[in-house]
This record gives sequence, C-alpha cells and structure tokens, in this order.
Amino acid sequence: MKAVVLNDWGGVENFAIQDVPKPSIQPDQVLVQVKAFGVNPADFKTRTGSTPYSKNYTHPIILGWDIAGEVIEVGTEVTSFKPGDAVYGMVNFPEPGNAYAEYVASPAAHLALKPAQLTFEEAAAAPLAVLTAWQGLTEHGQLKAGEKVLIQAASGGVGHLAVQLAKALGAHVIGTASGKNEAFVRTLGTDEFIDYTTTNVETAVIDADLVFDTAGADTIFSSAKVLKPNGRLISIAYSAMDKVLAVRSDIHAERILVHTSGNDLAIINQLIADGKLKIEVNEVLPAEKIGDAHHRLESRRTTGKIVLTFE
Ligand SMILES: NC(=O)c1ccc[n+]([C@@H]2O[C@H](COP(=O)([O-])OP(=O)(O)OC[C@H]3O[C@@H](n4cnc5c(N)ncnc54)[C@H](OP(=O)(O)O)[C@@H]3O)[C@@H](O)[C@H]2O)c1
Repeated sequence: MKAVVLNDWGGVENFAIQDVPKPSIQPDQVLVQVKAFGVNPADFKTRTGSTPYSKNYTHPIILGWDIAGEVIEVGTEVTSFKPGDAVYGMVNFPEPGNAYAEYVASPAAHLALKPAQLTFEEAAAAPLAVLTAWQGLTEHGQLKAGEKVLIQAASGGVGHLAVQLAKALGAHVIGTASGKNEAFVRTLGTDEFIDYTTTNVETAVIDADLVFDTAGADTIFSSAKVLKPNGRLISIAYSAMDKVLAVRSDIHAERILVHTSGNDLAIINQLIADGKLKIEVNEVLPAEKIGDAHHRLESRRTTGKIVLTFE
C-alpha cells in the first residue's frame, strides 16, 4: 500500500510517498481502507520531534490520527463493525496512529460509524478537533445552558466546532478571530464576534463563565482576565497554568489533552444528524501535497480543516 512516510525529524522534505506493507490486525482491531485522512497542528509538532509523544516513535514514521474510510476486515473480538461499514475516528492518539496511509489498523473502540450526512472528507476532518472541542466544553469546562463562553480562535479547526457545540449546549457564545474570518464565524452561530486585531478582548468581554482557549500563549492572559470570579479557563495550547494562576488565582485554569471516546463520538454523531454541527473542510489535497498541508497549518492562519486523499 502507499503511505506518507517521515524518514527523519525536521522539515517536510523528510516526507516521501512510499510502498509499505499493509498492516495486519489484532483481535480487537479493524482494517480500514482510508478514503481521506485529516491533519492537525499536533502532526507538524510531532514531525519536528518537539512533542512529549515524539519519543514514542522511531523512523520511518507514518504520522496522523484522523481517518475516514471503509472497514474491510474485522478482528475476531470485534462485534461493533462489519466489512463494508463506513467509519471515522481518531486512532491511538497520542501514540502512533499511522493514519497517512491507504490502510490503517485501528482499535474498533476508536472508531464510530460515519454519519450519513458527512462526506468521507468531512468525516476525516472531524475526529481529533471535535473530540477536543466537546471534551473541553463539557467534561472539563462543565458548560451549562445560559452561560457566557468565550472561544478564542473561533475560526480554527477546533474553534469552529467549539462555537457550534457551545450553541448546541445553549450557551451565549463569543468568538474571536481576525476580521477576514468574521463572516465565517458568524455563520457558525456565534452571538458576538470580536476581531482581535482591532479590538481589545480584555475590555470587550466582561464576566465570562468559561473561556475555551484554542490559541495559546498569545491569548491566554486575556482569557484569564475576562473571566468572572470562580470562572473556568480551559486551554488546549498553553501549558504553564502556574503563570496564569499567578495573575488570576480566583479561577479554575486547566490545560487538557484530548482522548479517544466512542461515547463522545456517538453524541457528536447525533448532533450531526440533527443538523447542529457542520464540519468546515477548507481544502482537500492529494497525499503528495502533505508538505503544503503542514506548511499551511504551521502558518496558524487556516480556517476550518485540511484533509488529504490518495485517490
Ligand atoms: N491539547 C489538545 O488535546 C489539543 C487538541 C487539538 C489541538 N490542540 C492545539 O490547539 C491549537 C489549535 O488547534 P487548531 O487545529 O484549532 O489550530 P488551527 O486550525 O491551525 O487554528 C488556526 C486559527 O487560529 C486563529 N488564530 C490564530 N491566532 C489567533 C489569535 N491570537 N486570536 C484568535 N484567533 C487566532 C486563526 O484565525 P485568524 O487567521 O483570523 O487569526 C486561524 O483560523 C494548536 O496549538 C493545537 O496543537 C491541542
């Protein structure tokens, strides 16, 4: 089978499309013929060797966690899927997921049936980002109907899904992005939009119950300042919460890491079926353009998601 192989830590020049053996499956796994695979910022961070989980890999590496495709074989213990099922999921995160490939062996527990409303490209764009948004808002953020939530980087891969999920949960949603993304963020249902390039977020937002910060070091201190006492700050891209708590000791501040959850994907599937959650695929690229996909992500300017395909 064909796969995008990373032959050394560093830049995208270390990627090559290569023929590699098709993976074999364990009893709890299924073999998926991949129709599309997604990319996330964690991919380029892993490519450079700079993440804590980079140490789990030895070259040659097949990066990536997000896939959508068709089940072609099931392990002896698998009862949840059968050959022919259309599935999607985040495979093995943060361990190697081997997703940049024509075939992926995945634990059945990491997959869900693909909602009929989604194309394979939309489904491949979703898993890591939508699980992060859902877990950040609910499991960690404890968002309740009627609360005021600020979503930093509302136009990004995680942010555009978080806006829609927060609206589905009944919150009052404020989203930040630069002005060029205002129309897009408003179509997601945000109640208020803030162009962070022209407006000071710290004065524009008062007494938020929850901030879901997907932007990181550039925004984290503003995020802390706009919370009401005992407010909750959930970050996915900034780790030094001791520094945040040093300036705002009266809030709950937490950096989270997404985890696989079949239950969460089942809830998300229902929201998609109900028309409450749409996945924005900004670009579909051939697998050969993996370097371009990583460069676009590294720019931090992408809107929605990028997916790739071998077809
Ligand atoms: N901890 C976890 O489990 C977890 C899971 C997923 C992602 N992450 C991390 O979370 C971060 C976001 O991921 P992502 O996939 O959403 O990234 P992304 O899609 O690359 O985010 C790009 C978006 O960020 C916006 N942006 C950049 N700087 C901003 C700022 N100062 N204020 C407001 N918006 C800003 C950009 O909008 P403009 O162009 O309009 O500025 C752009 O639309 C990454 O660092 C990623 O590694 C962590």
